[in-house]
Amino acid sequence: MESIWFRSCPIEHKEALAQNIKADIAVIGAGMTGILTAYKLQKTGKSVVVLEANRIASGQTGKTTAKITSQHGLLYYRMILDLGEEKARQYAQANEKAIEAYRSLIQEEKIDCDFETVDAYVYSQNAEILEKEALSAQKLGISASFVPTPRFPVATAGAVKFQNQAQFHPLKLIAPLAQKLTIYENTVVQSVDGHRIETNRGTVWGQKIIFACHYPFINFPGMYFSKMHQERSYILALENANPIDGMWIGADAHSYSLRRWRDTLLFGGESHRTGKNRQGGRYHALRQKAQELFPGSRVTAAWSAQDCMTPDHIPYIGSYSSSRPDWLIATGFQKWGMTTAMAAAQILCDRLCSKENPYADLFRPDRFSAKSIPGMAEEGKQAFQGLGKRFFQIPENTVETIPAGHGGIVWQNGKKTGVLKDKSGKTFSVSPRCPHMGCQLEWNPDEQSWDCPCHGSRFDLQGNLLEGPAQTGLPHS
Ligand code: FES
Repeated sequence: MESIWFRSCPIEHKEALAQNIKADIAVIGAGMTGILTAYKLQKTGKSVVVLEANRIASGQTGKTTAKITSQHGLLYYRMILDLGEEKARQYAQANEKAIEAYRSLIQEEKIDCDFETVDAYVYSQNAEILEKEALSAQKLGISASFVPTPRFPVATAGAVKFQNQAQFHPLKLIAPLAQKLTIYENTVVQSVDGHRIETNRGTVWGQKIIFACHYPFINFPGMYFSKMHQERSYILALENANPIDGMWIGADAHSYSLRRWRDTLLFGGESHRTGKNRQGGRYHALRQKAQELFPGSRVTAAWSAQDCMTPDHIPYIGSYSSSRPDWLIATGFQKWGMTTAMAAAQILCDRLCSKENPYADLFRPDRFSAKSIPGMAEEGKQAFQGLGKRFFQIPENTVETIPAGHGGIVWQNGKKTGVLKDKSGKTFSVSPRCPHMGCQLEWNPDEQSWDCPCHGSRFDLQGNLLEGPAQTGLPHS
């Protein structure tokens, strides 16, 4: 099902690339990051083109809950301990400034995008850690407080409130900006070599190239596969639910994300690492919880989103790699894509205009800290397991034992095969080898897709590519 954003704001189509072109800046990806960055750079007088493999905002921007906030779960107490107060303050400021930058942009361009200033809350069953978080955020200059008994339908030990945060309709913001930009839709980047970008529609030469495509598809240099994974989460749009004030996120395992848009309540949760949902039941569990918390509510839309997670919980914004000085990247936004998109646009724009940006160093993609080692080791372990399964795991299923409407890996014609049996019993077979780096795919019953546990590529039941970093679909088996 498509998100409420697409239903309520169709975006004008753009033509695909039809000839070879040159530009000062080529941006890969027409989501919020690509559009904001391109818009800012074009205003400085540079020639900018945006290349989009699918449609504008068809990636995570169309699936977000569209919160704009410096409150990224319980973050600041831990960040001060891990990175020190100065870096935590920079992180807080970069995100607070992003909220202000949205306000200014909306005012300047007179965009009606349902932008509202609201408070953001993070809730938990652990009052002690909430109090520490509130104090830490205050210390960094955020208008934060501990609320011991918030008005909220989920049982909690309290919440941390950040004042003057915001929510909006992401496509209503993107639509008018996209009209001002040169964007080529249905233009799939196949390779990048120096300043030359090969697409399925022609060649683009960019003096600078910005990868704003969610998860980078070039493995070397950069090696983002070794320091990032993807997580999925599920969202329901509810009608007839009791209204709530503000935006909410839970900090504990099995907690929820909530916000209101007009009369609709967005209710999200059931996160998991992509490729680790063989049992399914995520939408069902979310629907059950919605009925428990908001009896009488009705689901009007349901969809899922995917986020890139970094070991130190800080996005990667800056040079793609020291060996590619003219390539820039913005990725690893955790679950805070809208706020980070604006912060990234400012950092990248300053960088390309040779302006100092006080936060650039914090987000450098080539940073290294000892605190990241366990997270990077976990990424290595997951990749090892994903590859190991392909070579050593014996399939538990046969085509006969797969229930109708489900998928599984079977041994067929002397090789492993991913088989989906539809409700009528018809089967679809694909190779279960991920074309990115070879891990074994897992069936995701909630999305009827083949998902990769290593870095999060996804494919539909016929093997067509849904999400990268893989660049191609699956061969039929
Ligand atoms: Fe990297 Fe599948 S996404 S191996």
